[in-house]
Order: sequence, then C-alpha cells, then structure tokens
Amino acid sequence: MSVPLKERHITVLNTDNMIEIKYLYEYETWIPVIAQWYYAEWPKIYTGIAQVISRLEERTNRSSLPLGLVAVENGEVVGAVALKDHEIEALTQHTPWLASLIVKKENRGQGIGKILIEGLLDKARQLGFLKIFLYTDTMAGYYAALGWTEIQKYYYKQQEVTIFEKKIGPEVYT
Ligand SMILES: CC(C)(COP(=O)(O)OP(=O)(O)OC[C@H]1O[C@@H](n2cnc3c(N)ncnc32)[C@H](O)[C@@H]1OP(=O)(O)O)[C@@H](O)C(=O)NCCC(=O)NCCS
Repeated sequence: MSVPLKERHITVLNTDNMIEIKYLYEYETWIPVIAQWYYAEWPKIYTGIAQVISRLEERTNRSSLPLGLVAVENGEVVGAVALKDHEIEALTQHTPWLASLIVKKENRGQGIGKILIEGLLDKARQLGFLKIFLYTDTMAGYYAALGWTEIQKYYYKQQEVTIFEKKIGPEVYT
C-alpha cells in the first residue's frame, strides 16, 4: 500500500558521516541559527536578520511550497535548502526552483551540499514535478558537475546569473 505523500519522510542517508535530510518543519528551533548563515553569506539581499527568519518560517511546509529541508548530523543542523514555486519573478514559466542552498562553513567539502540537493530532488519528485530549476552567480561549475543542464544566462539584480534545469522524471512506486 502506498503511503500518502505528506506522511513520507525524506530518507537520504550517507552512512559515512551519517547525514540525514529532514524537513525544516521538524527543526524549526534552528531557524535563527540558519538565518545567521544566510545573512552572513548574502547580507545585501536581506533587509536584516528578522527578514531572513520570516522567510525561513514560511518554509515549514511538508507537502506544499515553499518547503525547507535541512541536513542533520548527530542531531545538529549543518545545512539547508528550499524548494520554491518561483525565484526569478519574470521567469514564471519555470517552476519549481531549488533555492537557498547552504552548508555551515565548518562542514563544507564533505558532500553535504550534494546530499541536500539529492534530498530536494527526491521531494520534488514525490510532489510530482518532472523538472526543477535553479540560478547561480558563482557556483555554475558545481551544478554542472552534478549533472544540471545550463539553459540560459540571465541578467538579474545587476549581475549575470546562470539558469540550470534538471529533469527528475516521475517517481515509480512498487
Ligand atoms: C555551495 C555549497 C552549499 C556546497 O556545499 P558542500 O557541502 O561544501 O558541497 P559538496 O561537499 O557537495 O561539494 C564540494 C565540491 O564542490 C566543489 N566546488 C565548490 N565550489 C565550486 C565551484 N564554484 N565550481 C565547481 N566546483 C565547486 C568543491 O571543490 C568540492 O569538490 P570535491 O568534492 O571534488 O572536493 C557550500 O559551499 C556553501 O554553502 N556555499 C555558500 C552558499 C552558496 O554559495 N550556495 C549556493 C548558491 S547557488
């Protein structure tokens, strides 16, 4: 018997460093910590820490967008990512988007970013999406190496960004 989508857990587990992908919903108390990481990384795009916190609070959904996921190691949140309807306002034809990928500075380079992306693709697939989009100004090489396809360059917020897509296909249940 299949389990209703909203009841299912995300179960990407890396047995080397025991990273679990969980809903932000389950780790709401970590929102102020995650907000600090975002604000330190992208100070210009937020008006202040309160705005980052409120954006994160909007992502505490499990079966609707915006939806936040976190990477958890030994009970501690070490990274986060979001699935959003829209990211670049003018590109309404593209949906959904992977957004706000971040790994705590001390934990970078251990594959956690990749695991978060896999968890998000899994969730997007569960929700029935066949494709997913993202944009980046500095990490195009990273996403290309992970199999994302560049679809266009775009001028956004005074800079050139690269837009990527990834086909994720229908999920097959047995
Ligand atoms: C991007 C980020 C989430 C990656 O997380 P991570 O856990 O360190 O990533 P992973 O461990 O999965 O991958 C690291 C690999 O990507 C490579 N990489 C890093 N930046 C890269 C770039 N700009 N282009 C190509 N490869 C890159 C690293 O060299 C490393 O390769 P290796 O595994 O062969 O050593 C993390 O660096 C981060 O939080 N950055 C700040 C926020 C940010 O830029 N987010 C992305 C917004 S689009």
